[in-house]
Amino acid sequence: MGAGIVEVFARNGIPVVAVEISEAALERGRAHLTGSTDRAVARGKLAEADRDALLGRVTFAVGLDALRSVDLVVEAVPERLDLKRRLFAELDRICRPEAILATNTSSLSVTEIAVATTRPAQVIGLHFFNPAPVMKLVEVVRTVVTSADVVADVEALCGRLGKVDVTIGDRAGFIANALLFGYLNQAIGMYEARYASREDIDAAMKLGCGLPMGPLALLDLIGLDTAYEILETMYRRGGRDRRHAPVPLLRQMVTAGLLGRKSGRGFYTYERPGSAKLVPDEHTPNPADGAGREIAKVGVVGTGPLAAGLAEHLAKAGYQVVPATADVLAPLADVDLVVEAVDDEPYAKTAVLAGLDEVCQPGVVLATTTSTLPVIELAMATGRPADVVGLHFFGPDAAGPLVEIVRTIRTSAQTTDTARALSAALGRTGVVCGDRAGFIVNALLFPYLNDAVRMLEAGYSTVEDIDHAMKLGCGCPSGPFELLRTVGLEVALTIQRRLYQESREPGLAPAPLLEQLVTAHAEV
Ligand code: CAA
Repeated sequence: MGAGIVEVFARNGIPVVAVEISEAALERGRAHLTGSTDRAVARGKLAEADRDALLGRVTFAVGLDALRSVDLVVEAVPERLDLKRRLFAELDRICRPEAILATNTSSLSVTEIAVATTRPAQVIGLHFFNPAPVMKLVEVVRTVVTSADVVADVEALCGRLGKVDVTIGDRAGFIANALLFGYLNQAIGMYEARYASREDIDAAMKLGCGLPMGPLALLDLIGLDTAYEILETMYRRGGRDRRHAPVPLLRQMVTAGLLGRKSGRGFYTYERPGSAKLVPDEHTPNPADGAGREIAKVGVVGTGPLAAGLAEHLAKAGYQVVPATADVLAPLADVDLVVEAVDDEPYAKTAVLAGLDEVCQPGVVLATTTSTLPVIELAMATGRPADVVGLHFFGPDAAGPLVEIVRTIRTSAQTTDTARALSAALGRTGVVCGDRAGFIVNALLFPYLNDAVRMLEAGYSTVEDIDHAMKLGCGCPSGPFELLRTVGLEVALTIQRRLYQESREPGLAPAPLLEQLVTAHAEV
């Protein structure tokens, strides 16, 4: 993070003194900086002369004495309050009285850091996002004692750095981390519970939500030790929401030295420490495993856009498609697989599944497209639950690149493999998950949207700034409120209620403001 921040300043013509605690640490930082700028040159993004000028603006030093004459210090040491407070007390002693002291803390109290100095009015949060040279957002955190001039100066500086700033008060996790880390922790929980594989969790969020990275890959980028500290602080400072209590696996990984990209291994394995290049390891799936059953003829039940879309995609993929309606299933007597896409309503779906059980040959895979019902309830309407699987397509006509494949506690491995092969033949990425409310995507997405509504309700920030923060800080294609408008508040509330009813997790209760907006038919 420190090296990235140095690069941001130096790239924008500002001389920087880069300080570390030891020669070895300084060397690592220097290697980061040269690695990043060399890559930019190799990609044709930076001229060699500009790289040399950039590096020429950076002075490297061990120890704080080198900071005597600077105008601004940005601290990016590990995320521990005692360490930061000690450092700020030292900086206060060493730096010029006019100097602004900024902390890049992700979740600690800027106020508590500020009061370790004799100049709390000149202490401010300046929170960059990883990778700092790429992510456009800076959160400017003002405490109750930060002077207005200092806030204005720092905001102007963000403009010079080509960054977009949002200025907010001193609350755990600020905007972006407060919304991001519940989601990241929940994704770790899914992985720990073997609800889905790391590849499938990440693919689901990338393809289902258009995110640049999946949550587990992002944790590897952030650093698992950093993520652990942030979650700890969020839990303590943020109202002891259990969703922020670090999942035990995270602590185990940190203890075992699996810190993410920086140590060469985290949720994934990398070519070497510091590299972004993935290499296969013992958890990497083998594409040759589990081909499933041979499928040539596919029945599609339903008359709506989903059934029509599926019939079209299946035919294009070379399957022989047999359409049927919920009332007349007889044409499906000799198909190899059936996808039912009737109304997502329990009576209609159960009746279709029971009907298919009567009509279809033994061994036929029965896929249901429910997005809201427990698949096991539908499977038990047949006498062959091992052959029943959920297929959750995205988009009204199944045009999205993702399919969630829901295996119940009775679904056979061969049925799941068949569903995965079918998804691949359709040109979709199939991700396999357990039979819980929201599957992968909705289970991770909607609590995050609900948290954004809670943040608005608490008056911490505005719709525009929250949307900005998530787009520019985390690369989300749209902000949470833009997404809520697209999905519809009523749909969001229905999904959130279901997640809450199943888990009874207090933090998943729908935000009162969301309930009120839906009741009032209002928009956000
Ligand atoms: N340093 C400098 N530049 C980097 C970089 C790094 N570590 N990693 C990538 N880049 C640059 C590349 O050089 C490339 O630049 P050009 O477009 O100019 O060629 C650009 O970023 C895109 O990189 P890639 O093509 O290699 O890869 P990508 O398109 O997959 O993008 C990514 C990589 C920018 C990291 C993208 O995946 C992304 O936006 N991910 C989300 C990151 C995120 O959410 N960050 C916030 C984390 S939370 C946080 O930081 C707060 C906290 O307190 C913990």
